[in-house]
Amino acid sequence: MTHTPSDSDPPVFDQTFQDQLFELLRWRRDVRHFRPDPIAPSDLNRLLEAAMLAPSVGLSQPWRYVQVQDPKRRRAIREIFKQCNREALAAYHGEQARLYASLKLAGLEDAPVHYAVYCDVSTDQGHGLGSQTMPETLQYSVVASIQNLWLAARALGIGVGWVSILDPQAVLAALDLPATWELTAYLCVGYPIEAHLDPELERRKWEARADPGSMLLIR
Ligand SMILES: Cc1cc2nc3c(=O)[nH]c(=O)nc-3n(C[C@H](O)[C@H](O)[C@H](O)COP(=O)(O)O)c2cc1C
Repeated sequence: MTHTPSDSDPPVFDQTFQDQLFELLRWRRDVRHFRPDPIAPSDLNRLLEAAMLAPSVGLSQPWRYVQVQDPKRRRAIREIFKQCNREALAAYHGEQARLYASLKLAGLEDAPVHYAVYCDVSTDQGHGLGSQTMPETLQYSVVASIQNLWLAARALGIGVGWVSILDPQAVLAALDLPATWELTAYLCVGYPIEAHLDPELERRKWEARADPGSMLLIR
């Protein structure tokens, strides 16, 4: 759909678009197997544009996207991941430990683009509206922005993998960033090797998706 935005002429999202939107939601995956091919800067800009369109508490826009390019810093992140993953593995036993150890839980080696995504919890933007009552809504806003980027990436055929097996303080130091920034996500971005309708963790029998009905309540 091509459309030049204007307040007086809002777009109509027709049935075809609605169906495609749901296809996009179904086909979004957390990706951990990437082709090394670079991503065009114009496509990366589109992803960041999508990220910046997200809702945020009080219009605070607390997200900060740090593109990690320096090979030394990337090596440091890989080491932090390895250490944290060893510690995480120690919490499992028996067959579950064997399965955990066999999972690929990051694509840090092959993904051509890395973003460390932060929440600036010291921002004055938004004047505390909403976040003075619920400070965690600043982090929720960053998550909303990541989700926008994740979906926009899928629309462009680009995969995103969210890595959280990282010590946030160690990552902050490795990237030399302000102490008031809290790590929300470390994202690996690149073209996926495969497309799937089901999560990798479901295919690998780590976990199964629950019945959506079990998550809906009426009071
Ligand atoms: C907040 C968050 C943190 C995540 N951290 C990791 C991670 O550290 N390693 C990993 O392999 N997957 C991670 N994932 C991906 C999930 O495992 C994945 O989203 C889930 O299995 C469902 O798969 P799908 O995204 O393909 O639907 C994370 C996802 C979210 C939302």
